[in-house]
Amino acid sequence: MAEFPGELAAAGLTLVGVGPGNPELLTVAAVRAIGAAEVVAYPVAREGADGMAARIAAPWIGPQQRRLPLLFPMVAGAEPRQAAWHSAAAALAAEVAAGHAVVLLCEGDASLYASASYALLALAERHPACPVAVIPGITAVAAAAAAASSQGLPWPLALQQDALLIRPTPDGAEELAALLQRACGEGMVLALLKLGHRWAWVRPLLAERGLLDACLFAQRVGWPDQLLAPAAEVPADEQPYFSLLLIRQSWPAVLP
Ligand SMILES: C[S@@+](CC[C@H](N)C(=O)[O-])C[C@H]1O[C@@H](n2cnc3c(N)ncnc32)[C@H](O)[C@@H]1O
Repeated sequence: MAEFPGELAAAGLTLVGVGPGNPELLTVAAVRAIGAAEVVAYPVAREGADGMAARIAAPWIGPQQRRLPLLFPMVAGAEPRQAAWHSAAAALAAEVAAGHAVVLLCEGDASLYASASYALLALAERHPACPVAVIPGITAVAAAAAAASSQGLPWPLALQQDALLIRPTPDGAEELAALLQRACGEGMVLALLKLGHRWAWVRPLLAERGLLDACLFAQRVGWPDQLLAPAAEVPADEQPYFSLLLIRQSWPAVLP
């Protein structure tokens, strides 16, 4: 077999994207890296909390593997987050220095709005000798488009000259209105993450602009209770953190 690039080979520390929810959506490389690890690290939002990435990868983690929850608090303040990133990086570097093969699990892809990216940057800053590899994962955006298409709602993310912008949902109506206008002018498909509680005001704004039919609402993609629905079918209530919106305001002229 031909040799593939080395970034997928076992290193001291491997950051592993575990996909959006369904354990079947881990890559072969991810499953192999987890299986080869002595220490399985994963982010938690609070001491003692269940890590989402660890739940997703649970079928691939053996009882003999040591679990290492690392605190990545979801707070606004810079100082506690920076302290947590450096403390996570120090814990990971110490495991690697002790000769252990370590994976750090990450929900979705390991480079897209990912906790693992802060560990990566903190390691480069303070522990540059620690060898790190990254295994990409299936992002929730790609999984949402695929799940919708599999349910009879064809949702190609980008075609021909389309642009695709993946970003957090804006915090205010004015900013979202400007973004929608820009996306309309530039033939840009939008994937808005961190929709959650913002849906309560985002939905009325989309309705006002006649855009509900252009939007796909996706919640807990890959989980048994996943919801993929045209935005018009989702009431304007607060929604869980693991929800996102895909918005396509126009299609290319030449299509089947
Ligand atoms: C911090 S970002 C993590 C993105 C992740 N690294 C990825 O590649 O998909 C978290 C946001 O991604 C979206 N998200 C992640 N997983 C999801 C899922 N299973 N279903 C729906 N949205 C999800 C939500 O918008 C959530 O607020």
